[in-house]
Amino acid sequence: MNILDSMQNYKDTVHTPFHTPGHKMGLCVHPKLKKLLTEDGWKKEVNVTDALDDLNSPSWAIKDAEEKAAKLYGADAALFMVNGTTSAIQTMILGSLKDGDTILAPRNAHRSVFGAAVLSGVDIVYMTPEINDEFQIIEELLPETIEKSIKEHPYAKAVLITSPTYYGRFSDIETIAKIAHNAGMLLLVDEAHGPHLPFLPNSPKSAISRGADMVASSTHKMLGAITQGSMLFVNKERVDFRKIAQTAALLTTTSPNQIIVASLEAAMEQMESCGEEYFKNLLPLIENLRKELKEAGFELLEGELDPMKLTLRISDFGISGKEADKILLTKYGVAAELSNLHNLLFLISYADNEDTLKTLKNALIDLIKDRKKHGKTMNFPTLPKIPPSKILPRKAFFGDIREIPFKESAGFVAAEEITSYPPGIPLIHPGEVITEELIKYAKEVRSFGIKLIGFADQTLERVRVLK
Ligand SMILES: Cc1ncc(COP(=O)(O)O)c(C=O)c1O
Repeated sequence: MNILDSMQNYKDTVHTPFHTPGHKMGLCVHPKLKKLLTEDGWKKEVNVTDALDDLNSPSWAIKDAEEKAAKLYGADAALFMVNGTTSAIQTMILGSLKDGDTILAPRNAHRSVFGAAVLSGVDIVYMTPEINDEFQIIEELLPETIEKSIKEHPYAKAVLITSPTYYGRFSDIETIAKIAHNAGMLLLVDEAHGPHLPFLPNSPKSAISRGADMVASSTHKMLGAITQGSMLFVNKERVDFRKIAQTAALLTTTSPNQIIVASLEAAMEQMESCGEEYFKNLLPLIENLRKELKEAGFELLEGELDPMKLTLRISDFGISGKEADKILLTKYGVAAELSNLHNLLFLISYADNEDTLKTLKNALIDLIKDRKKHGKTMNFPTLPKIPPSKILPRKAFFGDIREIPFKESAGFVAAEEITSYPPGIPLIHPGEVITEELIKYAKEVRSFGIKLIGFADQTLERVRVLK
């Protein structure tokens, strides 16, 4: 099947997506943006910077839209990005730190953080977030974990956190910002999963209005922008905005796709004019959906949580998240955002409505109707300690590599990542020393059905190390 056919096939199979992008397969798109993927739009698919302004050096239309977005989120400035939050995160790090500086980041930080370290020569010291044993997922970083790491590494220049997490947990931004700033460090926030926060009633607002210095936000994930459309928000007090804008331009194509750029403006306009109304209508429907699913026997992830993320443990019913995902897709045309051994995660966006939520509820209830509930799943084997880091990410990336048997690799410096999934936490990053404890853990968790990913040899018989 070629690329075009695979897209057609997916469209024919999935009728009710609970995944990104936030516009939900065109269910709720700004009318002017909708027109851009028609014959009329093809006439506008041009790249002429004089007539359309230049993303890499905006001076009027794009500048105006960025200023508007900054105001909506409570930032001093905003930059529109056409290569997703990946490049927003790389811009934050490359634009504010220098070769040899250190950044503190969660162990499960998005891979763009490692990418930024390779590009910049920055070192990363990892912090371990809490693990939720009940759902076997990674939670947010706690202020005390960050405080401890800052005490141990007072020379670090910045703290990066992910908030909200993929599963919708928020960090205490105000407290963390105070801790970081008192230590003379910047607070950078990966808010890939939170572009809707300013418009969501009764929710923590964007980290940029709560003390963070820079925030990377995937507008395309939860709002009405086209895939790849993200934003970077900047507060100028501790950050040289000129340098950040210069870095963004350095990492961006000189032919930015104007449809993606325009979709960021459209997404903002949509939220400005009816965001509040969308969410006001949706929240009671989501509350009702959660209530009905609980009554049907599902265990849902609870507590202070982004209401737009619905995580449920399906393995209680003797079916893995992966299997359930496949059935939901093929039998009901319902697609989850994420599935793993135990859970299904559904992403609800402003574009959802009573019908889509009803389709989800009916599909889930039908899926378990002849299944017996077994109860809770097993706990994790204890995760091994973060291995010692020997070589900077940049040096590890460019180092000479060889392959050796994994069981004989203790003491060697890893040249590839090994991540246990669930919960999605890297056991080793390139540049870190492989330990006996890690080798033992990797063997043990595979017998629990936990997948290890991220390395070349899928059997993990052999591993890539530095020479
Ligand atoms: C936590 C987190 N940060 C950053 C990214 C990168 O975002 P983008 O896909 O917009 O580049 C993702 C993508 O899934 C993510 O989950």
